[in-house]
Amino acid sequence: MTRSMIAILDLGSTQNARIAREVRALGVYSEIFAHDTDPAALKQVQGLAGIIVNGGENNIVDGEKIDVRPGVYELGLPVLTVAHEGAHPSDLPAWPDDSKPILDKFIASTGCERNWNMQNFIDAEVELLRRQIGSRKVLLALSGGVDSSVVAALLLKAVGDRLTCVHVNHGLLRKGEPEQVIRVFREQMGANLIYVDAVDRFLDKLAGVSDPEQKRKIIGAEFIRVFEEEARKLEGIELLGQGTIYPDILESGTKTAKMVKSHHNVGGLPEDLKFELVEPLKMLFKDEVRACGRALGLPESMVDRQPFPGPGLGVRCLGAITRDRLEMVRESDAILREEFKNAGLQGKVWQYFTVVPDFKSTGVRNHARAFEYPVILRAVNTVDAMTATIEELSWPLMHKVTDRILAEVPGVCRVLYDLSPKPVATIEWE
Ligand code: XMP
Repeated sequence: MTRSMIAILDLGSTQNARIAREVRALGVYSEIFAHDTDPAALKQVQGLAGIIVNGGENNIVDGEKIDVRPGVYELGLPVLTVAHEGAHPSDLPAWPDDSKPILDKFIASTGCERNWNMQNFIDAEVELLRRQIGSRKVLLALSGGVDSSVVAALLLKAVGDRLTCVHVNHGLLRKGEPEQVIRVFREQMGANLIYVDAVDRFLDKLAGVSDPEQKRKIIGAEFIRVFEEEARKLEGIELLGQGTIYPDILESGTKTAKMVKSHHNVGGLPEDLKFELVEPLKMLFKDEVRACGRALGLPESMVDRQPFPGPGLGVRCLGAITRDRLEMVRESDAILREEFKNAGLQGKVWQYFTVVPDFKSTGVRNHARAFEYPVILRAVNTVDAMTATIEELSWPLMHKVTDRILAEVPGVCRVLYDLSPKPVATIEWE
């Protein structure tokens, strides 16, 4: 079956990803191409049914206004031209907030089949993976986050026991996370899963280190070392699975899109460990990754996870990490998540977590003075993590969470709520 598709030529609009997502939501696969893509190359794109030329605010590159190649209009395909206000003020209308009716009408004018859905994606991707992998073996670092979990489930469906997953427990995971990874992948799905308990190793390396960037570097470098050791123990593995998703690729910068940040998923693997990459999610947006995971039978609690930083709870246990404060972060985070779930906020608030600073304050416990740590609650909403606003939690919910943390988490005598938006604050505390 040929997949119909709409190409978006990128003239530097920040709206391109949104348009691509909306076209896909209307049932037609869509991809973003560089503005100067050769019309001959477009002609080769399988299933191409229409082209959207979208002007934008970043349409000046090196002092020159950029444009698509004229031949684009001579391919015999319907072309929808849109521009942002200020981009081409004289000739084109502005791109409206509600673009769905326009896109819907455009898709109808192409006459293409609306055949983009998760089941079709999975069927096609499984075929592609089988073709790429052949009889070779694949290795995957399975953190338990949404992306690596969905990659694991997809690879498992495609190549079964030729996939080996490695789950490294660096001691900075959320409560119950390593157990869930083992339960779901090893016990329920029957995957080859190597579980590495590297808790002591990481915490020993981190002992006494208080600088946030230094902590991040140690966690990242140690992760690669542990993963590399496991990889070397295995024979004959040629491929490495990666949880790269479409926004990672878009954000790493096209010619016109401003570079937001560079993404290294398993950056820095040693040169002599040469792997061919397998990136089955690289054309999916985050909500599509979740839908894919659901269609593959992953539990909702795994698919609907909030974003979680690579260095894990390590950047929420402020300053030099100690085991007692790390447990305070882990336990209070579990309570916060449970109460958010009870309040129906799971999946509605973008990110919420707790932080434990490295100073104490005075309290009173059992009629005696106590000198214990505070827990800080953080709950934010954002679209792209570049800016964020705080979630206005209800007082009853805050009281409930506070009461539980004070009663259930040893060593904590105070609970605070962080009201700071990003900017000036960042989402994480370190
Ligand atoms: P900040 O704190 O920069 O966070 O406002 C923005 C988003 O990025 C996540 N984050 C990280 N993710 N490695 C990651 O993989 C990191 O070192 C890291 N630091 C922050 C953070 O959780 C938030 O979603």
